[in-house]
Amino acid sequence: MREDKREGIVEESKVFKPGAEFKARALVREEKVYEEAARDRIGFWGQAAERLDWFKPWDKVLEWDPPFAQWYVGGKLNASYNCLDRHLTSWRRNKAAIIFEGEYGDSRVLTYQDLYREVNQFANVLKSLGVNKGDRVTIYLPMIPEAAIAMLACARIGAPHSVVFGGFSAEALRDRLIDAKAKVLITSDGSFRRGSVVPLKENADSALAGSDSVEHVVVVQRTGTEVNMKEGRDLWYHEQMQKAALECQAEEMDAEDMLFILYTSGTTGKPKGVVHTTGGYMVGVSTTHEWIFDLKEEDVYWCTADVGWITGHSYIVYGPLANGATVLMYEGTPDYPAKDRFWEIIEKYRVTILYTAPTAIRTFMKWGPSYPESHDLSSLRLLGSVGEPINPEAWMWYYKHIGQERCPIVDTWWQTETGMIMMTPLPALTALKPGSCTVPFPGVKVEVVDHDGRPVAKGSDGYLVVREPWPAMLRTVYGDQNRYVNTYWSNWPGIYFTGDGARWDEDGYFWVLGRVDDVINVSGHRIGTAEVESALVDHPSVAEAACIGKSHEVKGQAVAAFVTLKEGVDVGNGLMDELKAHVAKKIGALARPDDIFFTPELPKTRSGKIMRRLLRDIAEGRALGDTTTLADASVVQALRDK
Ligand code: WTA
Repeated sequence: MREDKREGIVEESKVFKPGAEFKARALVREEKVYEEAARDRIGFWGQAAERLDWFKPWDKVLEWDPPFAQWYVGGKLNASYNCLDRHLTSWRRNKAAIIFEGEYGDSRVLTYQDLYREVNQFANVLKSLGVNKGDRVTIYLPMIPEAAIAMLACARIGAPHSVVFGGFSAEALRDRLIDAKAKVLITSDGSFRRGSVVPLKENADSALAGSDSVEHVVVVQRTGTEVNMKEGRDLWYHEQMQKAALECQAEEMDAEDMLFILYTSGTTGKPKGVVHTTGGYMVGVSTTHEWIFDLKEEDVYWCTADVGWITGHSYIVYGPLANGATVLMYEGTPDYPAKDRFWEIIEKYRVTILYTAPTAIRTFMKWGPSYPESHDLSSLRLLGSVGEPINPEAWMWYYKHIGQERCPIVDTWWQTETGMIMMTPLPALTALKPGSCTVPFPGVKVEVVDHDGRPVAKGSDGYLVVREPWPAMLRTVYGDQNRYVNTYWSNWPGIYFTGDGARWDEDGYFWVLGRVDDVINVSGHRIGTAEVESALVDHPSVAEAACIGKSHEVKGQAVAAFVTLKEGVDVGNGLMDELKAHVAKKIGALARPDDIFFTPELPKTRSGKIMRRLLRDIAEGRALGDTTTLADASVVQALRDK
């Protein structure tokens, strides 16, 4: 065992260095990649693009007119072609592309040939429903292969998809359908969740009541639940597939044609439709996926995210499939039917790479090591983390109990907007410090800056920015160019602001400290305080609300709300639960506040701005910071006395 431990990684005074064995077999093991890429970033990304199959090569790698970038100008390609067709000419044709594990333990394996067939057929179904290049298609599905099939089918015919997480409510779905003006919605009769059924089709029906762009709804049969099928509008997936032809030519897309829209939370109540295009995104996600996860043909790669988030888009679907990887896809939760489900799956399929989130790791810690210990995890060789800063304690637990002191951990920092991983170790090159996402990926220029946009000295904190354009960067906010410019590029001209605060340590390592804007990170999911506030004031009893993120042992942060009720409304019995349920109904269960504090007034500055900093201090039970700008100091005292 001892020798085995040495293989992957070596510990030296709190720093974990790549072991000789891992290094010897690694894909990227030459330190010089960093310098070479830094010396000629454009050349680096130009070379990286050669990994894809292009119908027509690009004329120019980058056209940069800040803050508007065009990558691989003039190049033509298709994302679905790169994920499927090109693997059919080699032995990979018969390799497992997706290994699906259902919540009930039902299993299904799709080879690249199988996936190709299903995607082609479904692309033909979409065409038969009048979906043309440029039309938007919304996907509201559980974690089943049809989600990936639907995405790739859209990509095949050049119809940008907008995937809406299956845990979002009908109202959240409606907002996203309306904003994207979707022509077709793809959903399922239901979704399994801890043994019960979430009525996705029912949610879809109520969402559709408020949007008029959707002409057809395609319904995948997953749970067998009885659903309403509206004559002329709703169609069963399996019935349409039976009739569909087996081949559908992949549309020739421009490198800058839109691949998808993905909505994410920002600092206003309205979610932003982050737009990603084809060429740069595919180069970015496939390169990072291969290098960071040290991908080998024989790997069984499991990313536990949902396809409804960017992690699912980039590192379940587009990156891994472009690389011809075998991707494990799991439908359910880690505790169903028992708390060892993840470890059972790893043992069953001999998973080699596990990519998960700190909130999941902290949950496993709470449950204790007996669950992973009851399974054989010796197939694992690399672990990943994403979604929020991983606290060193969780890192050590992951390292010890899951990686068995054998596996490097890649802590990957990135965002919906960045499309691809931006900061991360390269497992054979980078010494790991628990809690730090280490250094930027080659060809990526990240900095920590002060108020004036000047880089801070080593050992200091500041704002995390990206200094140079990168291939998978967002191109705009759907239908709102101003919001793109104002949100990301207005603090310092030509510099992308991430919304995160960070520390740059003495060794030049980055430590992300969390959001500095009004975004809360609950279990790795972004929720805007403004979104929750507008859901609360939508309730007839609420006059005013302010939300903040409060630290939480497992979720990282939880939503805490301060609520002022309308004149004459009594807190009475059950109002608190009613308000929590109201938020869940408006947005989804993930936004449900953990705590609601009722207060006759909110602490405000004399100009009327809510002082969230003070609310944070109150919620955390900390000493109050500066209160001199408060309009009415007694408000805070009253809140503290509660
Ligand atoms: C946070 C998820 C620290 C960060 C891919 C970022 C992280 C936001 C990490 C983006 C990490 C993500 N370490 N913080 N490894 N990964 N974050 O758009 O605050 O859902 O800005 O993308 O999550 O969340 P998003």
